[in-house]
Amino acid sequence: MKIQNKHTGMYFEKKPLKEYVEHQQNPSNIAVAQILERISLQELKQFSRPWYISELGAGARTDRYNLLFNELLKEPKGQIDWVDFSPLMIELAKKYLQQNPEMKQVINFVENDAFNYLQQLENNKLNIAIMKYSFDHIKDPKTLFTLLAQKIMPNGSFVSDLSITDELKSHSTNVRYTYNGKEVPYGKTIELRDGDKFGLKFFKESGNPEGGTIPGAEITKYYYSKKTIERLAKKQGFEVFIGDWKNYAINKQGINKDQDILVLKKK
Ligand SMILES: C[S@@+](CC[C@H](N)C(=O)[O-])C[C@H]1O[C@@H](n2cnc3c(N)ncnc32)[C@H](O)[C@@H]1O
Repeated sequence: MKIQNKHTGMYFEKKPLKEYVEHQQNPSNIAVAQILERISLQELKQFSRPWYISELGAGARTDRYNLLFNELLKEPKGQIDWVDFSPLMIELAKKYLQQNPEMKQVINFVENDAFNYLQQLENNKLNIAIMKYSFDHIKDPKTLFTLLAQKIMPNGSFVSDLSITDELKSHSTNVRYTYNGKEVPYGKTIELRDGDKFGLKFFKESGNPEGGTIPGAEITKYYYSKKTIERLAKKQGFEVFIGDWKNYAINKQGINKDQDILVLKKK
């Protein structure tokens, strides 16, 4: 399996990264964390402890997932591998953890590419793998699903948000989009195709395109349609759910957000 090892970009530059991580403290981001946490706990309930979890492309915000962390702290204690290829993200993640020092008992920071990490993991090790706002950073979902099918234990799951847009407009509330290295012109819409790569430049101020973008704060994402994601996952033997989280969750109370998710269950 060919795995990309060299990485550059915003996640490796201190100033824009810090600004970006501060921007993540918004209600939508917090709600998505709560949704993924709730779905993960729903999936985990069938397993006896200890639980073994991976958060892939985990980022900085270790001040989320409190319910999940508290469950991991119950005896026999579980473990969450907090995997990110950016040393700066891992550094910030350790800083945010200072607010919850007891979590240190169950969190294991892994500074590595998610694919390299998964390759090194024992087969059938994981009860759950989670990706939050990072699935669309993956250039090669086929390889990701192949690895997940090996590393997730029977009845275990992969849980991710799925925030796919089939069309690229000039900007959203938070970002200016680029395609083929150029900003998408105002008024133009680009129809995305499987494997397409596009860029996001973050606005200095949310909802204010005229205010300009944060220098250096640009990330790359990849587009795959829901149909393709479903086909690739089924090929690896997963049961696939794609849709609004409320159609999967048993408990829908208290989170007021529409959000598509991807849940892959290993049979
Ligand atoms: C949009 S951020 C989301 C971070 C975090 N999950 C959150 O929701 O706050 C994407 C994260 O994925 C990480 N990332 C992207 N590709 C990765 C890869 N191949 N292996 C490990 N980490 C990766 C980036 O460094 C970044 O921290």
